[in-house]
Amino acid sequence: MNVEFYERIWMWVAVGLIVIFTATVVGMGASNAVHPPSHMETIDPGALADSPEFSNPSVNVRADGTVVVSVVAQMFSFSPNPIEVPANRPITFRLTSADVDHGFEIIGTNANAMALPGYVSQFTVTFANPGEYTIGCNEYCGLLHHNMVGTLIVKDSGASR
Ligand code: CUA
Repeated sequence: MNVEFYERIWMWVAVGLIVIFTATVVGMGASNAVHPPSHMETIDPGALADSPEFSNPSVNVRADGTVVVSVVAQMFSFSPNPIEVPANRPITFRLTSADVDHGFEIIGTNANAMALPGYVSQFTVTFANPGEYTIGCNEYCGLLHHNMVGTLIVKDSGASR
């Protein structure tokens, strides 16, 4: 079989690319570089009732003044709801799911993460603008996915409440 010289070059380029991409995926996996974007923390989704944090998901102010919001997502709601937090202070959200994959997007902000069963997703965000925000689930999670919304109320309570 006669393969044109240039065709042969491009075949090897294509093969080279496949090798590079495959090596990248395998390398990332083997070196544990593939993980949730925030941090790696697991939790038994069937035992959230026994979790001190997630059995009663709520907004808590730590001793150092930072605000932590623990959220459980499940078909088809977020808990707590509404979520009330102060403006101009770092708010750490900790999300998990009691059933299937859900999204947690605070519309109009860059706060957006997945709530996955078995994992705790965490991110920290500061809201400069007080007001009412809609939280939407942006992962299809079932028949009433489109109804899965929550409310975030950002209260203007001064920078050092
Ligand atoms: Cu939860 Cu879509």
